Amino acid sequence: MDNEGRGRGFTVPGMDTRPFWLAGAAATGDTEITVTDPYTGGNVGTAAVPSAAQIEEAVAAADSVAATAAALPAHARAEALAHVSRRLTERTEEIAALITAESGKPVKWARGEVGRAVSVFRLAAEEARRDSGEMQRLDTDPGGTGRVAMIRRVPKGPVLGMSPFNFPLNLVAHKVAPAIAVGAPIVLKPAPATPLTALVLGEILAETDLPRGMVSVLPMPNERAEPLITDPRLPVVSFTGGQFGWQLQRMAPHKHVTLELGGNAAAVVLPGADLDWAARRVALFGNNQAGQVCIGVQRVIVADEVHDEFVERLVERVAELPTGDPRDPATEVGPLIDEGAAARVAGWIEDAVRGGARLLTGGEREGGSVTPAVLTDAPADSAVVREEAFGPVLAVRRVSGVDEAFAEVNNSDYGLQAGVFTPDIQVAFRAHRELEVGGVIIGDVPSYRADQMPYGGVKKSGVGKEGVRPAMEDLTYERTMVLTGVQL
Ligand code: SIN
Repeated sequence: MDNEGRGRGFTVPGMDTRPFWLAGAAATGDTEITVTDPYTGGNVGTAAVPSAAQIEEAVAAADSVAATAAALPAHARAEALAHVSRRLTERTEEIAALITAESGKPVKWARGEVGRAVSVFRLAAEEARRDSGEMQRLDTDPGGTGRVAMIRRVPKGPVLGMSPFNFPLNLVAHKVAPAIAVGAPIVLKPAPATPLTALVLGEILAETDLPRGMVSVLPMPNERAEPLITDPRLPVVSFTGGQFGWQLQRMAPHKHVTLELGGNAAAVVLPGADLDWAARRVALFGNNQAGQVCIGVQRVIVADEVHDEFVERLVERVAELPTGDPRDPATEVGPLIDEGAAARVAGWIEDAVRGGARLLTGGEREGGSVTPAVLTDAPADSAVVREEAFGPVLAVRRVSGVDEAFAEVNNSDYGLQAGVFTPDIQVAFRAHRELEVGGVIIGDVPSYRADQMPYGGVKKSGVGKEGVRPAMEDLTYERTMVLTGVQL
């Protein structure tokens, strides 16, 4: 796709400051963010940060291009999205290496993340072509005779996307791709710890024929984001991150705000389940990416009948997880995002132990890394049980059976996803009926996510849904036109 070379050659040879993307063009600003490798402590590169005037320019550009963007033909939106999907495929290794360098994510998971983003853009391209609106007959009652309604979805307006550090590419993709698919301009603020991958995505987007102004990628410290959050020209905010989201919602009371805020996801293990499979999955998905996944397993709720056998297997599986250098293709568990995060998680483990928990393995901190930990008997009010740990720690709780297990899942301020290991279809339906979460995974961990699925939680886990199609609905509203004097 030719776009007059926009986005080409934006890095200066010998220097690794990456420009940001202001209305589709590379720009440098007034300051920089230095990105640190969480594993080596080395400097990964720097991201240029826009000035207040440049932030204003990006918002004004999004505002002024909104009508043009909404009128873009489906093929233009779809082709731009398909181009991004292709280019991500071509640049997989380079981007995966960058994700690993700036976030500490093990490279095998970083490659997986690029693969998922390839799918997100592909799915968005397909959805952009598929959406034809709806026709509704109104002659179902005498008053509607000769009338028909045409219903189409139109963008609510330009979007502010704010993405977290734990998926520097795919959670950016979940903001950007649905916006383009519906024809909404987007100003993206990536996490300040991991802005470089988003800037590569900005470069790829600049290769497309999308109108200038439709996409800006603006790295900045969180403290500088307030003007974006409150600006009425960005009437939609899609935020993924921590509990700051609720404050954000209060800062923008008249906006449409979608919040994906994580949780303390539970995996339930019941009699009859394949304990070996359950132990392997819980061990891996409580700890991969050092537990920094909103739907990573944190609470493990195990029926008394299988508790001891399951815990024995779980501890074995956790203890054998390959930890260490995230560049090693065998590594499953790398460092946390920084030493502060690791110290907090290790402190929570110590607090639980002081409160009477038994630490069966792990829990040792070295710099920014914590060895994967399994706790039993953690007090019900301890942080490792009640709060979002976002670290490599599993808190196992023994329950008498299904009733107590489901009550325990619901005994949480959060409700994003839950996993239930059971061979019983009736229990599966009951879980779907009773668990207060946005998604129930039967036969696997709560951490399973296919990118087209509706994704989003209840309670303190957030409001609204992501997933390509659900996000497209979230970013648009239905506008109805009634035709009069027509016969079907
Ligand atoms: C998240 O951590 O918020 C997203 C998890 C995922 O996409 O797998």
